[in-house]
Amino acid sequence: MNQLLKNVLTLAAVVSVSVVSAQKKSATPVYLNEDAPIEQRVEDALERMTLDEKVAFIHAQSKFSAPGVPRLGIPEVWCTDSSHGIREECAWDKWSGAEWTNDACTAFPGLVCLAASWDPELASRYGVAIGEEARYRNKTVLLGPGLNIYRTPLCGRNHEYMGEDPYLVSTLAVPYIKGVQSNGVATCAKHFALNNQEQRRHSTDVEISDRALYEIYLPAFKAATVDAGSWSIMGAYMKYKGEYCCHNQYLLDDILKGEWGWDGVVISDWGGVHDTHQAIHHGLDLEFGTWTDGLSQGKANAYDAYHLADTLKTLVKAGKVSEDVLDEKVRRVLRMVFRTTMSKDRPYGSFVSPEHSAAAREIAQGGIVLLKNENKVLPMRPAEVKKLLVVGDVATASMMKSGSSTTLKAKYEILPLDGIKAAYPNAEITYMRGYEVDKRKAEPLKDVVEAAREADAVIVFAGLYYKGGQDAEGVDRKSMELPYGQDKVIEALCGVNPNYAVVMVSGTGVAMPWKDKVPAIVQGWHCGSEAGTALASVLTGEVNPSGKLPYTYYASLDQCGAHVLGDYPGDKNHHQVYRDDIFVGYRFIDREGIKPNFPFGHGLSYTTFEYSNVRINRTKGNANSKWVVSVDVTNTGDVDGKEIVQLYVAAPKGKLNARAVKELKGYNKVALKAGETRTVEIPMDFSSLAYFDEAMHDWNVLAGEYKALIGASSQDIRGEVAFEVK
Ligand code: GLC
Repeated sequence: MNQLLKNVLTLAAVVSVSVVSAQKKSATPVYLNEDAPIEQRVEDALERMTLDEKVAFIHAQSKFSAPGVPRLGIPEVWCTDSSHGIREECAWDKWSGAEWTNDACTAFPGLVCLAASWDPELASRYGVAIGEEARYRNKTVLLGPGLNIYRTPLCGRNHEYMGEDPYLVSTLAVPYIKGVQSNGVATCAKHFALNNQEQRRHSTDVEISDRALYEIYLPAFKAATVDAGSWSIMGAYMKYKGEYCCHNQYLLDDILKGEWGWDGVVISDWGGVHDTHQAIHHGLDLEFGTWTDGLSQGKANAYDAYHLADTLKTLVKAGKVSEDVLDEKVRRVLRMVFRTTMSKDRPYGSFVSPEHSAAAREIAQGGIVLLKNENKVLPMRPAEVKKLLVVGDVATASMMKSGSSTTLKAKYEILPLDGIKAAYPNAEITYMRGYEVDKRKAEPLKDVVEAAREADAVIVFAGLYYKGGQDAEGVDRKSMELPYGQDKVIEALCGVNPNYAVVMVSGTGVAMPWKDKVPAIVQGWHCGSEAGTALASVLTGEVNPSGKLPYTYYASLDQCGAHVLGDYPGDKNHHQVYRDDIFVGYRFIDREGIKPNFPFGHGLSYTTFEYSNVRINRTKGNANSKWVVSVDVTNTGDVDGKEIVQLYVAAPKGKLNARAVKELKGYNKVALKAGETRTVEIPMDFSSLAYFDEAMHDWNVLAGEYKALIGASSQDIRGEVAFEVK
């Protein structure tokens, strides 16, 4: 056979293979082609879906899942609660657990503890780790992070959120969300918006100025959706301007999808959908947990009776609702599926690994706050403590079962007393419950006092449990007092032993009537599986505490704007006016010149830091970062430590009728060896100076003289520098 013929045959063979493969390729639908652009995959899948499939696609089929499109191989959408760990598998149509044996998770510290770390790197680590657990458990959506602002210390869910300042919450939410989503799992920033209390959460109608909405309550959600690109968001239960937040045209259509141009999925809170017309037309995309009018609370498998189910299908078939409205919802859910379960880049996750335990421990160690430490009572070094008295039911009580969305089945839980025993192996440790909780009896108080007299050191663990009326969903506390008569025990031990510390295991501010009489106080948070190890490592001095408060520790409710100016919990019609407006937390404290128990941003160390030479320079940086504020910080003690340097901006009032004295606009957590001095730089961008102008309905910056204040806390300003804005 001559060479020419051979070449022709070879060419024919090559062409036929490529044709076949091309045919094979073209035979693969675009939506299944993992290399195709997501928007093309979305449109292709949408075209292929029937009306029934589209309607099924946008509402639940079970307690925590929506059906996907089985015929097309589009997977189900599975959601999981995740406030500080991945919730156990729930029964198909009930809140109870499914009794699986392979779903016990790592319990991480509550988000308020992460907030207290003021550490974006830890936030990223937290997101990656909890996202790996959600991925390993094959979840599409992790129902968090909780981003609601700490407006009142009574709110039952403050422990799930990140404090009172929108700038601090935003700067930690972004790396957390990116960390979770790097696992191909969608976050669901919640609860959008104004879910700042649990009392009457299903009925409260909030009235609030646009300025307070945009300056205090929206920034974290804007950061989550616009900066971090959260692939979904959860509507809140309450109403704003008379419409439920799960189908609220102002929040969802005008702001989130309009002004912010966000392309993700609005998921309802469970039971947050109440109106079919609004559910269809006011921005809701995916309906979960509904108890519609046609259903009693108990009817099983009632998913076809949802608002975005048969009712919607009937309206579309009758031409009363355009199919375009339905398609827009389907597109958003498809987009989330192609970003997660159908993404070729999706990693495999991991579960209950040593790395996750280390992350949980180090987040706790970075967030624990040393509130007070007179006469160096802390650290209590193991070499110096031979007889140690540990008091408090909280030191031996599991903190995992809250009975609501924060409930966890943890793989393990190192309780405070376990941690103490491991950290003080040579000490004679006496444990006394001190106060009675449920059926767990306490010793006579005089015996506790006697034991304290005999010991070298005394540590009381006090706090709040994951129970209604304490740190739990659905209920607010009625007062700031600690429950179970804990204050009485703490008071009785004052003055008995000089080496006396109180460790608060709680996720929100409590009254501390004994604050001036207890020499050492630690805010220990709810730290999850590694709680005991983390707390003990700070008490022994193995770890030098570096956390600072993400909220004001009020001495009483009459130091809190929501109670003094606002009308928390609202009037008899459940209408509530946020008259505290922008004056939340330290913004109120500064305005009124109040001295709280401990201010926002407060936290001590086992060393000391000195600040000097505060200065400001304009930068040639990008249009945004206009200035850099610098300060020299010296570790003047004899142990290495970390310091959170805070930048507050004091702006001119101009024509504003009110403005905060100062606002947090930057911070930098730096590690300094004993004796080391470092220049700490904090960039400040132009938007830091803006206020929300209601008349313009936009952000505005006043010309005039501003001050950059550098502080170790909001009430411990160490230096300031003025600068002019033309
Ligand atoms: C709850 C909570 C929400 C949670 C959801 C599912 O009521 O408000 O945070 O994710 O329902 O449990």
